[in-house]
Amino acid sequence: MEKALILITAYLLGSIPFALLVGKIGYGIDIREHGSGNLGGTNTFRVLGVKAGMIVTCGDMLKGTLAASLPVLFSVHIHPLLAGVCAVIGHTYPIFAKFRGGKAVATSAGVMLFYSPFLFVSLLTVFFIVLYISKYVSLSSMLAGVYAVIYTIFFTDDIPLMIAVSLLTAFIFYRHRANIKRIVNKTEPKIKWLGGK
Ligand code: G3P
Repeated sequence: MEKALILITAYLLGSIPFALLVGKIGYGIDIREHGSGNLGGTNTFRVLGVKAGMIVTCGDMLKGTLAASLPVLFSVHIHPLLAGVCAVIGHTYPIFAKFRGGKAVATSAGVMLFYSPFLFVSLLTVFFIVLYISKYVSLSSMLAGVYAVIYTIFFTDDIPLMIAVSLLTAFIFYRHRANIKRIVNKTEPKIKWLGGK
């Protein structure tokens, strides 16, 4: 019973649609009708600017961090990564936003921030290196995921982490299907502050 409560709470935490809330409360717009239509930090940066983008990205990350910490906070014998994965599912299929949410990146990163701060920092490094070179947020997100899979398989013996990272990365690729098509067609928008068009 306690375990189910933790997992449900993690899902509900993940379901908080920060992009929708910030757009509606702060700017009076529904972010789903603008830009890529995605309920995530990148689309918020694109449509509403740096301040709103930062708030949404941090909020989306922190719900992953908080969800993964629930089993420890409440001393319930459940793996933090399982609670974290529930938050990622909530973020992508939020009960509070008709099950149309984001692409799993920031919330997954937030889970790693709790579980493996070293992996989190190295993921962020890979993300920004790829972003600097390619100027595609989507590609940077996916390649950070690939890095995480390689790192956990070759440099750790943490089986739950390997499984969680592999599943989350596969899920991130699945959620970026449209971005992958646009990258191939060269129609994916590049971020402007790094000189993209
Ligand atoms: O985290 C989402 C990002 O990788 C892509 O977002 O809005 O460009 O589809 P978007």
